[in-house]
Parts: sequence; C-alpha cells; structure tokens
Amino acid sequence: MTMLTRRQSLMLAAGGLAAMAAPRGFAEDFFEGPSLHELAQEKGMRFGSAVGVGDPDSLASSFHDARYRELLIRECGVLVHENELKWYVARPDAETFDFRPADMVMDFAAENGMEMRGHTLLWHHTDWFPDWFANHDFGSRPGTEAERMLTEHVRTLVERYRGRIYSWDVVNETIDEAGRLRQTPLSQHLGEEVIDIAFHVAKEADPDAELLYNDYMSWEAGYERQQEGVLRLLERLKERGAPVDGLGVQSHIGSGNYDYSTGFDTARADGWRQFLDAVTGLDLSLSITEFDVHDKNLPADIETRDREVAELARRYLDLMFSYPQTKDILVWGMADHLSWYQGMWLREDGLPKRPTPYDEDYRPKPLRQAIADAIRAAEPRPA
Ligand code: G3I
Repeated sequence: MTMLTRRQSLMLAAGGLAAMAAPRGFAEDFFEGPSLHELAQEKGMRFGSAVGVGDPDSLASSFHDARYRELLIRECGVLVHENELKWYVARPDAETFDFRPADMVMDFAAENGMEMRGHTLLWHHTDWFPDWFANHDFGSRPGTEAERMLTEHVRTLVERYRGRIYSWDVVNETIDEAGRLRQTPLSQHLGEEVIDIAFHVAKEADPDAELLYNDYMSWEAGYERQQEGVLRLLERLKERGAPVDGLGVQSHIGSGNYDYSTGFDTARADGWRQFLDAVTGLDLSLSITEFDVHDKNLPADIETRDREVAELARRYLDLMFSYPQTKDILVWGMADHLSWYQGMWLREDGLPKRPTPYDEDYRPKPLRQAIADAIRAAEPRPA
C-alpha cells in the first residue's frame, strides 16, 4: 500500500501533487480550511485521536483502511493506542511482552510526524488484567513479587518508548463510582502504594515524560462520589511525593445520566468547575484524553442528533478550554463506525451511534465543527 506522509497529504490537499493519483472523494475533501491539529497548534494545544489496530494480521482491520489513515494524517497531531499497550494485549503471559500491535501505531505516527501518548501502564481494574494474572503464583512473599511484576512492566514499556511517548496515562480508572480504590491482585498485596510505585517507576524510566492519572469521573449526574474519590487520591499522591503531573479527564460525555431534554445544566457545570479548580489548585494539568459524545438517548433523526451532540460538545469544551491547563484534546476514535460505543449500551431503535467527529463515510459532522469552533475560541495556552 502506498503511504502518504503528512507533508505529501498537505501538498495533495493544496493541489500541489496533481500527478499523484488519489481517488475522487479522497484526502482533499475531508474538510475545508485548517485541520484540527493546525487549529490546536496555533493555540499551543494538541489535537489527536485513539487508534486501534485490532488483529495485527488482518488486512481487514480498520487500521489498514487507506481513507481512515489519510484522515488521521490530515487531522491529528497526536495519536494514542486504543488497546495495544494494555496488559491484556502487551502481556501474553507473565514472562513475555508483545509490542507488535503497539509498534504498528508507533511506526505510523513516526512516519507521518505525529506525536504519541501512552495508554496505559496500569489499568487498575480486575476486569482488564489478562486472564493469566488471576492464577499467577505470588509465592511466599507476595508483596515483593507484586512490586517486581509491576516495576518490570512499567519500566519495560516506558524505557522502550522513551523520547517517543511524551505523555503517559500511568494509572487508569482506579477509583470506582462510590469513590473507593478498586481492589486487584496487585493492591491486595501492595495496598494503595501500587499507584505510587507505578508513578515512581515511570518517572525513573523517562524523567521527561508527562505522567497522568486518567479516569472517567464526569461532570454529569451520578459521578459526584467518583470526583471526590479522584480528588482525594490526587491529594494523597501529591502529599506522598508521587510524581503525578496532571489529570486525564476522559470526557465520554452525554452518557447514560445526561438528560438532553433539559440541555446543558449550568448548576452541575458549576460543581464540575469546583472539581477542576481543586485539581488545578494542586498544581496539576488537565488533559482531555478520550473525548466522544454518547447519543444513545437522542432521537433517531440524524440532523437533530448531530446538532444536539455538537451543542453539548461545544458547551463542554468551552468550559474545559477556559482552563489554560487544558492543552491536549484527544478523541476516542475519529469515525462513528470505529467507536467503542457501537457495541455497548445499544440504542433502543437499534440504529448505529454517532459519537465521533466523522461519519462512517468519513464525512465531517457538526461535532467536528464544534471542536474546531471551541479550539478557535480558546485563549492561546501559556508556553
Ligand atoms: O481483538 C479482539 C478480537 O480478536 C475479537 O474477535 C473480538 C471479539 O469480541 O474482541 C476483540 O477485542 C476487543 C477489543 O476492544 C478490540 O476491539 C475486546 O473484546 C473489547 O473488550 C475491547 O474493548 C476496548 C475496551 O477499552 C476494553 O479494553 C475498547 O476497544 C476501547 O475503546 C476501550 O477503551 C477504554 C479506555 O481504554 C479507558 N477508558 C474507557 C474506554 C472506553 O471503554
């Protein structure tokens, strides 16, 4: 397959490489005007997306879809692995590492001048450890073995990608919706220190990388205790001197508890601001790490759905970008048919969902416009 570099793509878009055959409806008409990456760059921000490889041996994987790749090259300045660095993909067993799928994304980003985020060194949630983990023999000194395993894992990943991954989701989703630390075979032996160890080892392995705690606590109803739990965890980490630089705010907005019929809830937004004030008050940065907008409860009509999704996105992003600490916005997939939401919490009418900036034919949607407008309206970020 012929791969275009970012530069070639831009030239193509400008009509400068007329001789390079591109099928009609290809690169040049994804969108008009500057890309989301260029808009973000002008403000000292970054725009990007999660990318999943799926089965690395299957050419049917969306990762090999030339139009999808071209869209990523045109729009994104940064990519993040959707699943490829998770333990259940990168660790076939206790001794082995498999970096093949992860490296496919790394290579694609490098070939096209894109930066990379790393997701995630420790998804501290029992469901997302590999199956072999539950039966692992921790021996007579289980605390020592748990620390050895975690240290080896974090060090191996961060050292491998040192200088190539500028920011890591060191720990992902360890606070449940009741505000408590999730229990796993690691915390069973190490307690909450499991979180500190992950941060310290990551820092040692790449002192220049940004290290985030990442979670889905949301501004919507039902996440108040999770917000509180995340804030308390961040406070404790800072008190203990763990090298945490910021909070990854996943931003899967419009989820089950959001009532579109009442519109953007300003009272609730005030509560969210208090949370963000407290987080930034700890001298932590904010990053939007997994943005998308769930349209499960919206009417079938596509125009209405897309408009509501875009309106909610604009209100939310304006709020988030009002914090100069928010520099990165990454979406969790660029096109609807690739979104994780297609297989989860299905719509009652059975219609496919529309949570991302592009539709299944890679046509830009009002959500893409809302993201562009919010970035344009943001103050430039401090250097
Ligand atoms: O690769 C296998 C494939 O071989 C198999 O045929 C197929 C059958 O189900 O499953 C495929 O694996 C799936 C994988 O995604 C790749 O598509 C897993 O079942 C599925 O559980 C997995 O879901 C991912 C989920 O995290 C769990 O790891 C989603 O793609 C991914 O978008 C989602 O991402 C999370 C973030 O990491 C953390 N925040 C929430 C976000 C959304 O849930």
